[in-house]
Amino acid sequence: MSTDHRPPGQPTSLQDSAFLRACRREPVPHTPVWFMRQAGRSLPEYRKVREGIGMLDSCMRPDLVTEITLQPVRRHGVDAAIYFSDIVVPLKAIGVDLDIKPGVGPVVEKPIRTRADLEQLRPLEPGDVGYVTEAVRLLTRELGDTPLIGFAGAPFTLASYLVEGGPSRNHEHTKALMYGDPELWAALLDRLAGITATFLSVQIEAGASAVQLFDSWAGALTPADYRHSVLPASAKVFDAVAHHGVPRIHFGVGTGELLGAMGEAGPEVVGADWRVPMDEAARRIGPGKAVQGNLDPAVLFAPREAVETQARRVLDAARGLEGHIFNLGHGVLPDTDPEALTRLVSYVHEQTAH
Ligand code: CP3
Repeated sequence: MSTDHRPPGQPTSLQDSAFLRACRREPVPHTPVWFMRQAGRSLPEYRKVREGIGMLDSCMRPDLVTEITLQPVRRHGVDAAIYFSDIVVPLKAIGVDLDIKPGVGPVVEKPIRTRADLEQLRPLEPGDVGYVTEAVRLLTRELGDTPLIGFAGAPFTLASYLVEGGPSRNHEHTKALMYGDPELWAALLDRLAGITATFLSVQIEAGASAVQLFDSWAGALTPADYRHSVLPASAKVFDAVAHHGVPRIHFGVGTGELLGAMGEAGPEVVGADWRVPMDEAARRIGPGKAVQGNLDPAVLFAPREAVETQARRVLDAARGLEGHIFNLGHGVLPDTDPEALTRLVSYVHEQTAH
């Protein structure tokens, strides 16, 4: 385990960025801000470059990935870029028959429900995602001192798409497998942990300055089931990339009851959605970790003054915490006015500058 989260070989000015300082719980010139799903449908320039190109095809084109990742950095002045991709890209790369359907999300042709179905999941080799290595290299050159966040889907959230065959409200097939065949469940999550760890390592080795593990749907679980059936696989992912020395972020939605366990999985930073105030989230996560969050993304549809009042509440709750990264409690909603995002970045910077 590395304790010094300053990997050699990256310039000091990048390592001294507000975002990376906050991840390490060091004093910051201002509270850093980035938004989950900052690259995407809320931006007209995104819709323009994506015209006629499928989501997964666009993820395999380093020129497009670079342009789309840079768009929100140019427009909003956020403190970090998030690599443009999707959580199902590594699954596609090992040959799982899936697609991302507009307005729906990932759809898997042959859901995984039996031991024989596991054969669909071979290990990921770095060569399977050469376009990721190329895009991250291009991007880090363009970004200069702005950190690039790499990401992957956590084993549970990936398993939900694979077992259900698509997006699910209740995760019933996933839970049926988890409770009904714990051995197969553990084997599935273990394979996914290996794939996810490799996907994150590829991004870090190509130059990503931090990584986020999205366990978007973990909030559907009880704390006991999360600890027993999911945490070991997510901890395996964090362990596998620890030696790189870059900050690791763990995020899920509706995870108020899981924040402590998500911290135990090993990350330096834990993200929370808007349902738990930042100070209470930090208390539940426990000492020694930075926190990320947590303005309700729907607040951005309110008038400017109301957005600022609610952003102020987030900042007030986070005041005095060591290491706060301002973000939304979940991704930017597609119909969000991009101007509201730009104004929010300026507001947080102004209010916290010292
Ligand atoms: O800016 C960024 O945050 C980087 C891009 C990013 C995408 N997907 C691009 C995308 C990231 C970080 C993701 C992660 C992702 N994908 C998650 C975890 C984060 C979360 O929101 O909880 C999940 C659960 C997925 C699965 C997925 N892919 C969904 C639910 C959808 C939306 C379906 C829809 O159309 O409503 C996708 C498709 C997707 N991924 C889009 C984008 C920009 C939209 C496709 C398009 O623009 O045509």
